[in-house]
Amino acid sequence: SVMTNKRNEQGHLMIGNIDAVRLAEQYQTPMFAYDVSAIRNKARAFKSAFEQAGVNYEVAYASKAFSCIAMVQLAHEEGLSLDVVSGGELYTAIQAGFPMEKVHFNGNNKSRREIKEALQAGIGCFVVDNFHELELLEEECNNLQTQTNILLRITPGIEGTTHSYISTGGEDSKFGFDLFNGQAEEAVAKSLSIPAIQLQGLHFHIGSQLFETSVLTEAIATLYRHIEHWHTLHGFTPEVINAGGGFGISYTRCDEPLEPQAFVKAIVHSIREESGRCYLPLPEVWIEPGRSIVGEAGTTLYTIGSQKEIEDVRHYVSVDGGMTDNIRPALYGARYEAELANRVKQQDEKTYAIAGKACESGDMLIYNLPLPTVNSGDLLAVFSTGAYGYAMANNYNRLPRPPVVFIENDKHQLVVERESYADLVRNDRPLEKE
Ligand code: LLP
Repeated sequence: SVMTNKRNEQGHLMIGNIDAVRLAEQYQTPMFAYDVSAIRNKARAFKSAFEQAGVNYEVAYASKAFSCIAMVQLAHEEGLSLDVVSGGELYTAIQAGFPMEKVHFNGNNKSRREIKEALQAGIGCFVVDNFHELELLEEECNNLQTQTNILLRITPGIEGTTHSYISTGGEDSKFGFDLFNGQAEEAVAKSLSIPAIQLQGLHFHIGSQLFETSVLTEAIATLYRHIEHWHTLHGFTPEVINAGGGFGISYTRCDEPLEPQAFVKAIVHSIREESGRCYLPLPEVWIEPGRSIVGEAGTTLYTIGSQKEIEDVRHYVSVDGGMTDNIRPALYGARYEAELANRVKQQDEKTYAIAGKACESGDMLIYNLPLPTVNSGDLLAVFSTGAYGYAMANNYNRLPRPPVVFIENDKHQLVVERESYADLVRNDRPLEKE
């Protein structure tokens, strides 16, 4: 995490057992470096918490946080299921050889094509978001003469305390069947009546970067008050409750996230209590964490270039990436911590503003970063960039996406190549000649 960065004898930052300066020399900057052991440890922490809680479970890695073939393979190695939200993420999973029965398909506007592809691939379940999807799914099941498992995504009308762009469980949400206005009950009844569809259970996702368990347990209690009625009225018994993802991580020293164990414990305890109260069997408990699996494991390495000091105002230092590889500061006001990776940790002497290289003023990574005096050519490591960094990277200003390198102990491996200029124009077609 942010607090425990290792340094070698030369004072260089270590990622796994590898010197960050060596990585930057070999792969060039900007680049993403993932500590694979950190990813494995998170996956294992979630799983062992479930083992301890003594419940049947699935931990699905939400691949929207960071998807590439190697990452999907790593998730499989760790015994995780996979949450995909698009045909592209599904395709990545197929290319990675991920077992399709462990794939769950989320999303509020799955296309007919995506639904068909997922049915043909034989995915484990769809998390159905709305009535339109239910219709498409029934039609496509009939066309392909197949059946499928589903969970229904329920919107419990509970807000997580997080940025509104990533809060998804409140009453005004584009996601899911609302609990408070009868949509959810109608969806349960409808699903039960469709022969090609097996309603396995229910899903909810309150929001992302949560720092408390109370919103989750509140959602479970609220949900079970309705499940009780649906059991009586429709004979519905959930075999699965999926409590979503959103478990908070540490971006800066100020963040004090709960351990994965604490989230799992609270979720299982609450589901056990509520299902018992309703005289219903304990369902399987599923979760789908993204950020908490990969976020803290990722570090971005940049080279410092130009500087501009405006006396008594700000001292800008520009790096060779920015909002194109990490849009979170510009989009959410997200805060990050960073250090010089190529020097012995020295006394901080100045407060710098770390700017990206894209042509707009909002392309800032960190507004106030205390550092020793920096020189151009210094290597800057920005921490906790493993989730929604590469995943949201873009080609603004026709900047190529950085490469991704996996590091495990003494080994490092390129898992996504740096984009080339040729990649940037690959889909371009020249003007037709008269
Ligand atoms: N399940 C569902 C249904 C979700 O909508 C999400 C995230 C997750 C799981 C995984 O949440 P996580 O464990 O990663 O927090 N781009 C934003 C985050 C958007 C999250 C959207 N949904 C960011 O950079 O903060």
